[in-house]
Amino acid sequence: MILQIFFAIFHRRYIHKILLGIATFFLFSYLLHPGRFSSTDYDYIEIDNMKNFLSPSPLHISGKHMNKTQLCPIIIDKDKDIMSYPRKTVSESEKLAMPTDLNILPGGVWKPSSCMSNFQVAIVIPYRDRERQLDIFLSYMHPFLQAQMIEYRIVVVEQTSLHPFNRAKLMNIGFAETVKIFPYHCFIFHDVDLIPQNPNNIYACTHQPRHMSSSLNTFRYNLPYKDLFGGAVAILKRQFEEINGFSNAFFGWGGEDDDFKNRISYKGLQVYRFSPDVSKYVMLAHKKELPSESRFLNLKSGRERYETDGLNNLQYDLLKLENRSLYTWMLVNILPSDTNTDI
Ligand code: BGC
Ligand code: MN
Repeated sequence: MILQIFFAIFHRRYIHKILLGIATFFLFSYLLHPGRFSSTDYDYIEIDNMKNFLSPSPLHISGKHMNKTQLCPIIIDKDKDIMSYPRKTVSESEKLAMPTDLNILPGGVWKPSSCMSNFQVAIVIPYRDRERQLDIFLSYMHPFLQAQMIEYRIVVVEQTSLHPFNRAKLMNIGFAETVKIFPYHCFIFHDVDLIPQNPNNIYACTHQPRHMSSSLNTFRYNLPYKDLFGGAVAILKRQFEEINGFSNAFFGWGGEDDDFKNRISYKGLQVYRFSPDVSKYVMLAHKKELPSESRFLNLKSGRERYETDGLNNLQYDLLKLENRSLYTWMLVNILPSDTNTDI
């Protein structure tokens, strides 16, 4: 009966065209949808296996303390709760109390007092004009990192308003300036608007570069495309140097993270991801930036440029370097002379 009705309708003129149209619409919206890849479409490291993939810092860095203290445990506990959404504001008095309450040293520096951390990590944040987000990020991240017993420093690299934002170049500068302060063996490059939801998402490097924020609420906790390497990534210092850092050529929004992923592949390195549940992040709300027009051209010519465009041709003016109470602050004026694109 139902089939008869269906065929009766279907045989009317045009109805098959309409149905075909509807099917095409759904096919295209599926293909173009940001959350197209589900977690089963890519490889990731299961929670029980994570410890085997983490890369502890070479012990000689803190070797002199070795006899006095034990190595800290790596804390992974599946029963821990996942945070649903971070708070919306942080008061001035809370900010003032944090260094004492959490024993944070000037520069946003901390290390466990009872044991020696396995990881010495610099978290580098490219930044401009996002004060409220920075407050939320800092008030959330300090306790989060301390619970993981990571030895860390939070570095905020702020770009002056002279030129369009250059996220990748700010991260190169953050790296170049931070290694002068301390030989962190692991760097995490992190957007200020991303908040990790799972306490088991260990803020340390794996043997291969790791895409940390692969499960983002704004992408319905799916990967938009397999090569995405944006948001929050962790990479060993020596690997970052090997791939010559990020390209300095990407001004405005987009592409620089895709280029970075290409550099990783050119050097025969792989990308790791922890399981989607562990890699959950919330993005703090903000207006969407306008994508840059030049990003496709830059991406296309990336392969010819990567050995001469990056850490080894980095030019900038460091206007300020301050150990603020919750982070190391670098204010930089980006010079366009080491790039070959429109700005
Ligand atoms: C851009 C990337 C961005 C990604 C996700 C891509 O089109 O090139 O820079 O991270 O979209 O928003
Ligand atoms: Mn963002």
